[in-house]
Amino acid sequence: METLNAPDVIAETARRRTFAIISHPDAGKTTLTEKFLLYAGAVQRAGAVKAREGRRSATSDWMELERQRGISISSTVLQFPYRDHVVNLLDTPGHKDFSEDTYRVLAGVDAVVMVLDTAKGIEAQTLKLFEVCRSRRLPVLTFLNKYDRPGREPLELLDEIESQIGLRPTPATWPVGIAGDLRGVIDRRTDTYIRFTRTDRGASLAPEEVVPNDQAAREEGAAWQTALDEIGLLDAVGADVDLPSFLAGDSTPVFVGSALTNFGVRMILDAVVDLAPAPSARVDSKDNIRALDDDFSAFVFKVQANMDPSHRDRLAFARICSGRFERGMTVTCDRTGRELTTKYATTAFGADRETVEEAYPGDVVGLVNATGLQIGDTIHAGAPVTFPPIPRFSPEVFATARPLDTGRSKQFRKGLEQLDEEGVVQVLRDPDHAETSPILAAVGALQFEVFGHRLASEFNAPAEILLASYQAIRRTDKESVPRLRDIGGIRIMRRGDGELVALFENRYRLARLEADEPELVLEPLVAGGAFAP
Ligand code: G4P
Repeated sequence: METLNAPDVIAETARRRTFAIISHPDAGKTTLTEKFLLYAGAVQRAGAVKAREGRRSATSDWMELERQRGISISSTVLQFPYRDHVVNLLDTPGHKDFSEDTYRVLAGVDAVVMVLDTAKGIEAQTLKLFEVCRSRRLPVLTFLNKYDRPGREPLELLDEIESQIGLRPTPATWPVGIAGDLRGVIDRRTDTYIRFTRTDRGASLAPEEVVPNDQAAREEGAAWQTALDEIGLLDAVGADVDLPSFLAGDSTPVFVGSALTNFGVRMILDAVVDLAPAPSARVDSKDNIRALDDDFSAFVFKVQANMDPSHRDRLAFARICSGRFERGMTVTCDRTGRELTTKYATTAFGADRETVEEAYPGDVVGLVNATGLQIGDTIHAGAPVTFPPIPRFSPEVFATARPLDTGRSKQFRKGLEQLDEEGVVQVLRDPDHAETSPILAAVGALQFEVFGHRLASEFNAPAEILLASYQAIRRTDKESVPRLRDIGGIRIMRRGDGELVALFENRYRLARLEADEPELVLEPLVAGGAFAP
């Protein structure tokens, strides 16, 4: 596979940084993304990403939904060079109803930037997203955003990070000036004061000036003294950036700034390169290590059809784990044993696609029309490998769906199949009467909305979706089914992957059954962690 003079896989991998930004809607994820592109020189002036978005949502129905709700549903991958590195930024949806999608994206990254709105801190609805992140023990960098506006005390925010998500905050930079009057930050690692100057809405880089401490003391007055006092407190409790505990997912370096005015943006981007880890060798499902310079391997963490109406096709996004990817190479899907060619491989930059010729561990390739590839699939060249599956979340809400126009049942079924495969919702069917209305299962109700919207706009099969009153779901087996069927208020269904599940109208009945008849198989769909129902 290796051609003469091919760049060294190990060296190329070491240059990669693959991460995602997680935030509550409106905390500033899109703005920070855009500013990263600005600081990396990938866009000349801020505003380019929004313009792209505008164009995209004007041409796509379900992006229209995204726009109306002000949430991001689609995951895209941005790749840009920064310093001598290649940065891959994977987009995540900023709403808790899509936490399963976020979880899948997180399977493809090596670090996370958590953006908090300084005025709001950790918002209850987003706690679940952060827990997802924590449960994967990914290294997390924290950005306290919107410091150009009045907000809360930074020490109070640190407390909140620690108490609510159990990550020990270690401020890398500390603000001089209160929220709403940010003058600059002290980099605690080098004890230097960096003063910022505002540009118009942050369209261009914010000038930074290193100001000697004695001059800062004279010029910043009380704000300087307050910052020193607070830093004294941090020093006293040893809240210093600590690489090993950051890499282990136990502590989080904290940066302060404003994505809008560009204050602190360079520092957090530098931290992605300097602190976040390069891709490392992944362990397969038999606990063997697939070395970075072994044959090509990757796993699919996202499948999406019809992302853009001008390309009505299906993309499978795969994160590379080992080896060099060359467009056109033949790879094997480990689950099916089927070979596929990769003639049409892209990197996705917003809605605009670029063909990718080669890629390395940490990079994400979008395989066009790779039918047969599903979320969690491993693809490889050479020596076979299977990476561990991406667990599915336990659904918490349920609904029934039927086509509004019975003449369009075929399209309805096709849509159901496609959207099930993408993991938009889980489609459950009666094992004995496959033709009866399916039950949809999801982590959050917004997933049903996206599902309904896409059925109507992409498959031209509008559906009536009604919430169903099931309260819990458990995996079961053939032997337990007859007994469960004897009891009222339980429905047996089959998932797309063949698993039998039992739906309970009443969670207390489930609890009693678990206590009284332990011989019945009733397993939570995802054991442990924050996701067990
Ligand atoms: P999201 O992707 O996390 O949902 O947030 P997004 O970046 O879209 O930002 C949400 C709003 O917050 C936007 O305002 C954005 O300009 C603003 N914002 C982001 N970062 C900062 C910051 O550091 N300081 C201040 N003051 N505001 C910030 P908007 O009014 O919804 O949009 P726009 O009209 O400003 O574009």
